[in-house]
Amino acid sequence: MRKIPLIIDTDPGIDDAVAISFAMFHPKVDLKLITTVAGNVSVDKTTENALKLVEFFGSDIPVARGCQEPLLKTLEDSSEIHGESGMDGFDFGTPTRKVLPEHAVEALRKTLLGSEEPVTLMPIAALTNIALLFKLYPETKSKVKEIVLMGGSLSRGNTTTAAEFNIFTDPEAAAILFESGVKITMIGLDVTSRAVLMQKEVEQIKTMNRAGEMFAALFSHYRGGSMKTGLKMHDVCALAAIVEPELFDFADTFVEIETGKGPANGATVADLKMKYHRETNSTVALDVHVEKFREWFLEMLEQTK
Ligand code: RIB
Ligand code: CA
Repeated sequence: MRKIPLIIDTDPGIDDAVAISFAMFHPKVDLKLITTVAGNVSVDKTTENALKLVEFFGSDIPVARGCQEPLLKTLEDSSEIHGESGMDGFDFGTPTRKVLPEHAVEALRKTLLGSEEPVTLMPIAALTNIALLFKLYPETKSKVKEIVLMGGSLSRGNTTTAAEFNIFTDPEAAAILFESGVKITMIGLDVTSRAVLMQKEVEQIKTMNRAGEMFAALFSHYRGGSMKTGLKMHDVCALAAIVEPELFDFADTFVEIETGKGPANGATVADLKMKYHRETNSTVALDVHVEKFREWFLEMLEQTK
């Protein structure tokens, strides 16, 4: 079975940690590179966290440090959700692995141009690195099979009424991607806020293996939902959409990013009724089969050693 060449662009981030961990061990995935960006916490911390995860699993997957600020906006982190470190709750120790010497954008370019086949990009953070890649090196677009991103919303936001965090953090970067012509699948809050783990699953994973023990410790500090309403597994939904798309319902549509400075800043406006007759520029996830997602989650954890 040919593996899917994959690059994850990320701001770990407790929910990012799950997505990265599962991707490392998925039999269908060839995880070629992890690039970090400022988002949940500073890029220094997101990079340190990516190295902690790679080291925890004894992996040699390269990590490259990316942008420390959005293209135009000032970073407003979400350490209140993930803790000051970005991955509070579990002591990983200080990683000995080193980050690549080149910037994430250079590492992305080198990996894409050096790949025999087009690569899937899985951004689960602000889209700053990818936007810069496309602007600096537009020739790399032809080496991107598709972008499957966690971000946006077809309804309300989680950072403002209108905007989801990853898009709100860098709306200009998101606009560059949605106008790039590259195939995009958007996994937004409508889906990821339903993809939740309840107390029952958290108790179950705690004793399943060392990854489950680590996740459970992180989840004790994760404020993306609650044990009462469920812990929102936002980012791993992007991986699920790549390796198990039947877990979701999708629609092709036209999405525009609001970059104005008003209260709608960062909104992902999907013309689902195609009222404006614009050419479709993305596929958006409409719903997730929650019970099947939970079964998939536990199956993934079993193989994440
Ligand atoms: O809105 C949820 C997204 O913002 C997730 O990617 C989470 O990690 C944060 O980055
Ligand atoms: Ca994230």
